[in-house]
Amino acid sequence: MLKRNYLLLLVLSIVASCSQPAKDPAVKTQADPHSFATPGLAVVKHLDLAIDVNFVKKEISGKASWTIENLSGTDEIIFDDNNLDIQKITLGTEEKETTFKLGPVKPFMGNALQVAIGKDTKVVNIYYSTKTGATALQWLNPQQTAGKKLPYLFTQSESIAARSWIPCQDSPGIRFTYAAKVSVPKDLMALMSAENPQEKNSTGIYNFKQTHAIPSYLLALAVGDIVFKKVDERTGIYAEPSVLAKATYEFADMGKMVNAAEKLYGPYRWGRYDLLILPPSFPFGGMENPNLNFITPTIIAGDRSLVSIICHELAHSWSGNLVTNATWNDFWLNEGFTNYFERRIDEALYGKEEAEIQEEFARKALAEAVADLAKHPEDTFLKTNYANRNPDEGTNDIAYEKGYFFLRVIEDAVGRQKFDAFLRGYFDSHAFTSVTSADFLDYLDKNLIKGDKALATKIRAKDWVYGPGIPSNIVYGKTLYQEGGKFAKIDAMLNVWENDPMYNPGLFRVEVVTSNEKKYLLSRLPQNISPDQMNYMDQTFHFTASNNTDVQLAWYLLAIRHNYTPANERIASYLMENGRMWHIIPLYKEMLKTASGAKKAREIYKVARPNYHPMTYTALDKSLK
Ligand code: BES
Ligand code: ZN
Repeated sequence: MLKRNYLLLLVLSIVASCSQPAKDPAVKTQADPHSFATPGLAVVKHLDLAIDVNFVKKEISGKASWTIENLSGTDEIIFDDNNLDIQKITLGTEEKETTFKLGPVKPFMGNALQVAIGKDTKVVNIYYSTKTGATALQWLNPQQTAGKKLPYLFTQSESIAARSWIPCQDSPGIRFTYAAKVSVPKDLMALMSAENPQEKNSTGIYNFKQTHAIPSYLLALAVGDIVFKKVDERTGIYAEPSVLAKATYEFADMGKMVNAAEKLYGPYRWGRYDLLILPPSFPFGGMENPNLNFITPTIIAGDRSLVSIICHELAHSWSGNLVTNATWNDFWLNEGFTNYFERRIDEALYGKEEAEIQEEFARKALAEAVADLAKHPEDTFLKTNYANRNPDEGTNDIAYEKGYFFLRVIEDAVGRQKFDAFLRGYFDSHAFTSVTSADFLDYLDKNLIKGDKALATKIRAKDWVYGPGIPSNIVYGKTLYQEGGKFAKIDAMLNVWENDPMYNPGLFRVEVVTSNEKKYLLSRLPQNISPDQMNYMDQTFHFTASNNTDVQLAWYLLAIRHNYTPANERIASYLMENGRMWHIIPLYKEMLKTASGAKKAREIYKVARPNYHPMTYTALDKSLK
């Protein structure tokens, strides 16, 4: 899996704000440190959004009408806002104007929007527009799209950027349904994380409905020159016209993935399952927006070698979207569960060996994440504490892979059959709710451990969730290293190769064919690899020219580290054409380690930056601008 170095960069560059929210005895303790909302007092239930998308002004403007519940008879409701222009707020369908206050701005959090309400207020209408620099929005000019003719807009709301394009109670513990009316230029189509149109319409007005209660980070919008093609009756792909054919070839298995997922953990509950393939500046590999997963086009390798990302985003339709982490400190409940589920879908479709290979990469990624955090052991607990820090700093392989291995330990302790029934029960009983780590441990105790002390000792749940590092009861497959196993063979050859300059290159080629095998080989190349050996590897496997972004990332890191100049041009174009944060930040970071590398990095960044999403350049500016 990937190495997420976002954390390291940000830790150095962001000064954590230390102010605690004011303590008002009437206010229940704020369960979510990354939201100003006090949902125990007054909480949102439904959103009616009516917005206009203006590409000339690069602005979204309109009205967010929130249906609320005033649970405590309070005289104000608090929303999150980050850099919005709030023009007017009215109450009820009669739209009686009310007063509001903006709280002090906190770094990365934005500010509270405190709106005066009455005991019986049912609807709050907020008239607003977005400002430049909205962290969730990327406005692309035609040159930055595949078609080069029309502009494009997309949002990325996770973790706490929804508040930069819609005033909302921006906590994953708060859920609401929504309906939206979005008006866009007539030659573009709008799509949301909801039931979607399949064709452009001539009015430029699109209506959406999300009838399931979702948290704010799953609010999503894309507007562009987009066309649709179905894959099977309930699945299909949206993309720019010139990308659609390649995408439908690459992701042809998506229907089968949904079927396999349902067989494992119960019905897909969202209606349609579609993908939207975005322009290459999309800052993630994928984002699990409900009904319509957002996917980077950079995983279209041409040989379907990176499709497990689709298994991952699909799995979030259960782990994440159906059962959601209540706060960003419980992020592993989203990503660790999803990695487990992803690998089970992988296994169902592509076999045990494929799943074991992914697990092996995961083990390496976890070891690296733990090593990176050696000075901050408390950040290696599954239950984290990112209060007063940007929750995006916690999006690392602790949540993804330590979370994965915790579930793997439980699976191993009780057997697959029992574990699958347990997980299915967990999803069913918590459907459309948000849960904390403690809720999960409680559920685990009551439904699986059930007082069995030996089992509890075998699992060591508390060590995983509230303890540092990698507990010693970690479990993983080992067949790849057994005699005759795939990785054992590659290791043996490497051994010969390292010690014998006359080694016959033909032999390597037989064992190292797939992208996984290449990735493994790259992960095992010696630290002191010589220029000749680098050259040999490139001649044999054409790493520099690879189209597989996982292979590219691994090779380019080596190339930078060993000053392998034939890769320079490809590295530069990769960084200019790919906006996937976790695939580019490690490369910049590696370049920054030497003076000449830093100079090169700055030159590339200057050209590349205008193509990056605000999230991406915010993470990079401090070290590169
Ligand atoms: N939900 C995440 C992306 C995300 C995480 C956005 C944190 C904002 C904050 C998504 O499901 C994800 O994990 N994407 C990975 C895919 C990979 C693990 C297969 C990515 O983009 O690399
Ligand atoms: Zn994920």
